[in-house]
Amino acid sequence: MLLHAFPLNARMWEPQLDLAAGGWRIIAPHFRGFDGGDAKPPIVAIDDYVGDVIDVLDSLHVHEAVVVGLSMGGYVALAMVRHTPRYLQALVLADTRPQADTPEGVDGRKRLIALAEKEGAGAIAAEMLPRLLGDTTLRARPAVVESVRGLVTSNSPEAIAGALHAMMTRPDSTALLPKIHIPTLVMVGDEDRVTPPAVAEEMHHAIGGSDFAVVPRAGHLSNLENVEAFNNALADFLAHRV
Ligand code: MLT
Repeated sequence: MLLHAFPLNARMWEPQLDLAAGGWRIIAPHFRGFDGGDAKPPIVAIDDYVGDVIDVLDSLHVHEAVVVGLSMGGYVALAMVRHTPRYLQALVLADTRPQADTPEGVDGRKRLIALAEKEGAGAIAAEMLPRLLGDTTLRARPAVVESVRGLVTSNSPEAIAGALHAMMTRPDSTALLPKIHIPTLVMVGDEDRVTPPAVAEEMHHAIGGSDFAVVPRAGHLSNLENVEAFNNALADFLAHRV
């Protein structure tokens, strides 16, 4: 079960669909309202996304899944650890953090909500791309930059604002980490400036027995910026730890 980042949507996981060749069944839902979906009822909390994810699993009769969450997807995965642990067979936390937003972070979210409502998804893409993508991608991978911009602009301002509200009200999950006893992989792009490697390493140390992989020459969207390294680390974890 692949859970996407903000402000993208599930199509960001297309480069990971190759893992199906290894015999894995892949489920990658859009969070509510993303990619032109129905944003009603509006999202108020990360737990609303958890409810939607569980509905997907239940409707497919999946009792247990390896949950891979990148960034906001990781916030949702950690909320699953809190509320619905029996659905988790293993966990991959990529380019994410357990901490809640700081007061400055909340102010930034409010500004982005106003921007989304006033100027739409294009303005959100212009604002966020330089932070989301690593220096190598910004310099040398124009096709990745444009494809991420396309993913962002296919989302409605309502879906974007809902996610911002959900993220800025999420609780701190740091205390949950030592209670995670399922196989876990922590991953991070070495050029990630949103959730830097030091944050990921701390999370890895707090989750006993977890694996750790640094994705080279990749920023916050490590699965898109260095597909080969991301997929190799994920495939290795799936083969040896799950
Ligand atoms: C994401 O990639 O999901 C977001 O950058 C996470 C965040 O803004 O906290």
